[in-house]
Amino acid sequence: MSLPSLADTSALIRQRRSIKPVDMDAARPVETVLLTELIENATWAPNHGMTEPWKFHVFSGSSRQRLADGLSTLYQQTTPASEFREDKLQKMGSNPLLAPVIIACVMERSGGGKIPEMEEIEAVSCAMQNLMLSATAAGLGSFWSSPPVLDTAEFQNWLGIRSQDRCLGLLYLGWPKPGFTWPRSARQPVAGKITWHHD
Ligand SMILES: Cc1cc2nc3c(=O)[nH]c(=O)nc-3n(C[C@H](O)[C@H](O)[C@H](O)COP(=O)(O)O)c2cc1C
Repeated sequence: MSLPSLADTSALIRQRRSIKPVDMDAARPVETVLLTELIENATWAPNHGMTEPWKFHVFSGSSRQRLADGLSTLYQQTTPASEFREDKLQKMGSNPLLAPVIIACVMERSGGGKIPEMEEIEAVSCAMQNLMLSATAAGLGSFWSSPPVLDTAEFQNWLGIRSQDRCLGLLYLGWPKPGFTWPRSARQPVAGKITWHHD
């Protein structure tokens, strides 16, 4: 079996960046075959008990307007007055139209709750990372958005998921606009993140 080199894998992992919807080309579609491959890669994530606790709701075309309207209405309905922000409301209504594809990633409970909820969330998070890394390899920008409205009963109802399931994020996907410069980032030195236990 031939595996990708560690050097290639390190480069892919380190080059993945959050690319904002405003930097995506809304007019350039992402082919269904490619999207399906990215989502299939997501499903190869580790998961405890092989519950495969993920579901993907893909919004493209005119369903993005429905998503924008849903998010805006539910943000207004569910946000306490003290936390309400006009700029956030504007973003809910515009972001889904800036990207050609938005994937609502859902953790779906199963098996009578034998696996702790935290582990099912962890598995779906791994799946989302698989999806973003695959998107990066394809040259697509990706952006994980997690507005608190996703965790409301109203949004669960809107999306058609059960109360025990959770939408962990909206993954925005799109080709970067022509002329876009892929951003750079940095991380803290790894030495400060490791405790070696040798003996
Ligand atoms: C669980 C999770 C939720 C996130 N939610 C948001 C979000 O709501 N808004 C946002 O701007 N970025 C969000 N991000 C993206 C982070 O801001 C981003 O990963 C971070 O700034 C590091 O940048 P990089 O992804 O380019 O390495 C989220 C990331 C994770 C892992």
